[in-house]
Amino acid sequence: MIQLPKAKSSYSGKFNHLYDIQTRCASGAHENQYICYWKSAKMKAVETMQHTFKDYYRNEVTLSFADHPFSQSPKHVWVICHYHHKWLLTRHKERGLEFPGGKVEKDEAARDAAIREVKEETGGTVASIRYIGQYIVAGKTETIVKNIYFADIGELAEQETYYETEGPFVLAHLPRNVKSDKRYSFIMKDDVLTHAIAFIKRKGLRNRP
Ligand code: GTP
Repeated sequence: MIQLPKAKSSYSGKFNHLYDIQTRCASGAHENQYICYWKSAKMKAVETMQHTFKDYYRNEVTLSFADHPFSQSPKHVWVICHYHHKWLLTRHKERGLEFPGGKVEKDEAARDAAIREVKEETGGTVASIRYIGQYIVAGKTETIVKNIYFADIGELAEQETYYETEGPFVLAHLPRNVKSDKRYSFIMKDDVLTHAIAFIKRKGLRNRP
C-alpha cells in the first residue's frame, strides 16, 4: 500500500477522513485511481476550510471558498475582473484602487449586482462570471457578508458617470506591496485578495476561454 502524507496539525484534523481512503487501496483499488481520489478530496477540504484574519482596520474577517457558507443572500459583492490578460480595477474616489463591487439592491440577485457594479464602476461588460467564495467582516457597528466573483470582461465602454469611482484602471500585474501602497483601497489590503488570487491561479480560471 502507498503511504499518505502525514496530516498537518494546522488543518486541525480536517484531512483525517482522507485516511479512511487507505482502506479503499487495501481493498484493491488501482494506485492511480487512489491518488486521484486523494488529490480531489484534499482539494475539496482546502476549499471548504475557513481562513480567519484581521483586515486593515483590525476587524475580523472569515473567508471560505465553499458554496455560500455564511449567507444565501449576501448584501455585498466584490468582483475580481480579468480583461485581455490583465486585471481590471476601478479607482474609488475615497478608498483608492480596488476591484469593483458594492451593495446588492433590493430584489436584486447577488450575481446581477456583481455584473451591474462592474459596468457602473469600470464600463466593463461581463462576458463570463463565476462565484468563487464568500467572506464575513465583523465590523465595529455591523457585520457584512460579501460574495467574491471572478469575471472575464469582454469590452470596456466609456461611461457618462462612474458613480463613486473615477472609472477603470487596467493593470498588467498586481503589485506585491499592495498592503503598503497608499494608492490601494483598504479592501485590497487583507488576505481576501491573497487567497482569492491564489484560488484563481490554482483553478486556472484566467486561462479559460
Ligand atoms: P457606503 O454605504 O457605500 O458609504 O459604505 P460603508 O463603508 O459605509 O458601508 P458598507 O456597508 O459598505 O460597509 C460597512 C463596513 O464594513 C465598512 O466600513 C468596512 O469596515 C466593512 N467592509 C465593507 N466591505 C469590506 C470589505 O470588502 N473588506 C473589509 N475588510 N471590510 C469591509
